[in-house]
Amino acid sequence: MDEGKLSYCKGFSDHRNTFDVMVHFAEVCQRFTNGEPILEIGTRQGGSALALMNIFKKRWFFTVDPYQEFYFENDDTVPGKGTKISMDLYRDAMALLAFEAKKLETNWTHYLMTDYDFMDITRYVKISIKGKWYFSDDIKYSFVYLDGPHSTEYVKNEISYFKDKMVTGGCIVIDDCNNLDDIPKILSDCDISAMWYKQQTEDKFLLCYDPSDKMVELL
Ligand SMILES: C[S@@+](CC[C@H](N)C(=O)[O-])C[C@H]1O[C@@H](n2cnc3c(N)ncnc32)[C@H](O)[C@@H]1O
Repeated sequence: MDEGKLSYCKGFSDHRNTFDVMVHFAEVCQRFTNGEPILEIGTRQGGSALALMNIFKKRWFFTVDPYQEFYFENDDTVPGKGTKISMDLYRDAMALLAFEAKKLETNWTHYLMTDYDFMDITRYVKISIKGKWYFSDDIKYSFVYLDGPHSTEYVKNEISYFKDKMVTGGCIVIDDCNNLDDIPKILSDCDISAMWYKQQTEDKFLLCYDPSDKMVELL
């Protein structure tokens, strides 16, 4: 694993159809869970985080994104093409999300770091939720949205970390992996036995891990 590095997205991200499916899963998940925290890896302008905040109102919500300077999407070999991830973008996204969190009474915290570092520090950081202190590594989530680095090793690492951290009725949505052919191996390496919902277009995929099978029944 290439520690703490950024990785790039192969094609256009956030296709309307997969975004809609993510939102649908979040809405169903919200009904089946009881106020446990939610988390997003990969925040960029804060579009999906904003949607999740509005669905899971008054929850604990953690977002993770290092906002290092680089160009994202379209063609990562040509600087200037695609979205520039910068500290300007970081400030705009944080302002937007802070405003919304206050309005919606969401306890939102952003971790300005990579997914790798987030998974590492959770062993040492304690968080108080509803008056009880938890090591963040022990937190169980209702909903986890993985939309940060899209290369195989990162996707696999994130799935194997979060799959045992979900409450009953919880759900992980994975937005894309650069090499779609690696998906079956990722799932078998992570020992995923619960049902997965999968939607795939020619350059984009979305997977939902639903340990309780409840949401898939409802689709
Ligand atoms: C596809 S964008 C996220 C889009 C966002 N979810 C939305 O809907 O607006 C991917 C984001 O992942 C972030 N990222 C890249 N490498 C990362 C890493 N190793 N850990 C966490 N985030 C990372 C980038 O900075 C970028 O903001």
